[in-house]
Amino acid sequence: MKKQLKPKKFISQLKIQQKVRSIAKKISSDYKKSKTKKLLVVGILKGSIIFLSDLVRQITIPCEIDFIALSSYSGIKTTGVVRQLLDLRESPVGKDILIVEDIVDTGYTLKYLKENLLTRKPKSVKICVLLDKIECRKVNIDIDYKGFVIPNKFVVGYGLDCNEMYRNLPYVAALK
Ligand code: IMP
Ligand code: MG
Repeated sequence: MKKQLKPKKFISQLKIQQKVRSIAKKISSDYKKSKTKKLLVVGILKGSIIFLSDLVRQITIPCEIDFIALSSYSGIKTTGVVRQLLDLRESPVGKDILIVEDIVDTGYTLKYLKENLLTRKPKSVKICVLLDKIECRKVNIDIDYKGFVIPNKFVVGYGLDCNEMYRNLPYVAALK
């Protein structure tokens, strides 16, 4: 019989909260200096929803929020092929775009999205991730704001899933 994987707490709610607050402070101060005054926060569905909703409530400058849906995973394995399932509804033209993502692993997803958005005449494109599995990187991509660097473990919770389960855990857990 197949062994059932169990989530084990890895990053607490308190640690996440503190980190989200400090990232939001940095973002607010950086974009306050932008001449456009048009910040468009773009969340990648579905994994970013919890992080994004906590983050934007701590950002102290006006911003728009939009979503894009991308998929590259099947179960706990990356397929390496990024599929776009849903596009932006707001125009990115002339705006400072901040991509918000739950986790960067190989980097394929964020590289694909950043290159795609750069063709649509924004003022700037930056990336904010909660988790970074830096040792798994396959392509080079600059991360402008990051929460935690983590080892090569499969994690769930705080928006992250395994076959759509565990997104509602209030903390990040490793599947064991
Ligand atoms: P990348 O394209 O390999 O960087 O993968 C990024 C995407 O894979 C993320 O948006 C997640 O949806 C998913 N992913 C990568 N690692 C994990 C993990 O440990 N748990 C859950 N999803 C993950
Ligand atoms: Mg994702």
